[in-house]
Amino acid sequence: MTESLAFSKTKDRKTIYDEIAPQIAALVKGETDLVANLANITAVLKEAFGFFWVGFYLKKENQLVLSAFQGTIACTRIDFDKGVCGHCYTTKEIVIVPNVEEFPGHIACSFASKSEIVLPIFDKSGEVFGVLDVDSDKLDDFSEVDAKGLRKIVGIIENLI
Ligand code: SME
Repeated sequence: MTESLAFSKTKDRKTIYDEIAPQIAALVKGETDLVANLANITAVLKEAFGFFWVGFYLKKENQLVLSAFQGTIACTRIDFDKGVCGHCYTTKEIVIVPNVEEFPGHIACSFASKSEIVLPIFDKSGEVFGVLDVDSDKLDDFSEVDAKGLRKIVGIIENLI
């Protein structure tokens, strides 16, 4: 297991995603407990990028339920037809919200959150197993670079489930 994280002190997020992806793969290798792995992944993302909030909501029966996260306290349950997370769940697509105030139905867990990206996590049968939600306290903070970089990390998770 990797004991500490190494990444360049740069604002170039692509470089950082490329650097942390293999370290995340090494971190989760050999650990079978999903929540332990998700918890470490949120810690890596928080440390590497300083995101305001990063965490997982997993599908439990008919809702998305809060799982491992780093950041301020958050709502614990999200209906499939609610919020950015629910939109991601139902459309099965990555959702980038440059300004959360302009997203109809956005769930404000913290008023400090200004922009957001949510990615679906698929199980082996192609159903959405859960979502990865990252919030920023800056407007328009997420781009295709984050979508691609985070998608790679979600791919590592999909190999665990
Ligand atoms: N904003 C999300 C809810 C989760 S929090 O951001 C942690 C949403 O609208 O689904």
